Amino acid sequence: MQPRDNPYIAGSGADAEAIFSIYSSCFDSPLKLESVRKMLGSENNFAFLGSCNEAGSPGAFIFCRVMGSESELLWLGVMPSIRRRGSAFALMVAAIKEACDRGAQAMLLEVAESNEPALALYKKLGFLPIGKRHRYYRTISGEKVDARIMRLPLEVG
Ligand SMILES: CC(C)(COP(=O)(O)OP(=O)(O)OC[C@H]1O[C@@H](n2cnc3c(N)ncnc32)[C@H](O)[C@@H]1OP(=O)(O)O)[C@@H](O)C(=O)NCCC(=O)NCCS
Repeated sequence: MQPRDNPYIAGSGADAEAIFSIYSSCFDSPLKLESVRKMLGSENNFAFLGSCNEAGSPGAFIFCRVMGSESELLWLGVMPSIRRRGSAFALMVAAIKEACDRGAQAMLLEVAESNEPALALYKKLGFLPIGKRHRYYRTISGEKVDARIMRLPLEVG
């Protein structure tokens, strides 16, 4: 694997494993490698990897779905050791461009009201809140947290 700092589109089996590995270091909710493989194989979905280390292993990923005129951000994760270096922002820019190229006119996402880093990132990119899901997420301690639904209109073309 070649070192690549800039986001690149994920496709291979090794890319599914990289996504799975980064996901596992970012999220508490369990995910199966096989699910990542299947999702990556769907033509409605796309993912980018980025922020590779010197050995060429990516440290960040984004996973999105496009359905008709809408795209949805499913996951975004950056390994804890390389956060606050612009990795997530670069992946978001790449994903927004890809969603535009696929004809999406908006990107939607759900984020926990308690996730301040992600909320700040999405606000910086221009996402606006359009709704809430009451007590949608459960934290490790069992507390239930609202999800904020956010939307970014996309410029097509
Ligand atoms: C949220 C997350 C993806 C941000 O990744 P990152 O690579 O550290 O973010 P970036 O360095 O690209 O930051 C871009 C902007 O986001 C905001 N931001 C990111 N981390 C922040 C933090 N800890 N506190 C406040 N703002 C933050 C800032 O506006 C930042 O711009 P700035 O550095 O110019 O101030 C990362 O913290 C993460 O993986 N968290 C766990 C998984 C998660 O919550 N995913 C999102 C929900 S699906």
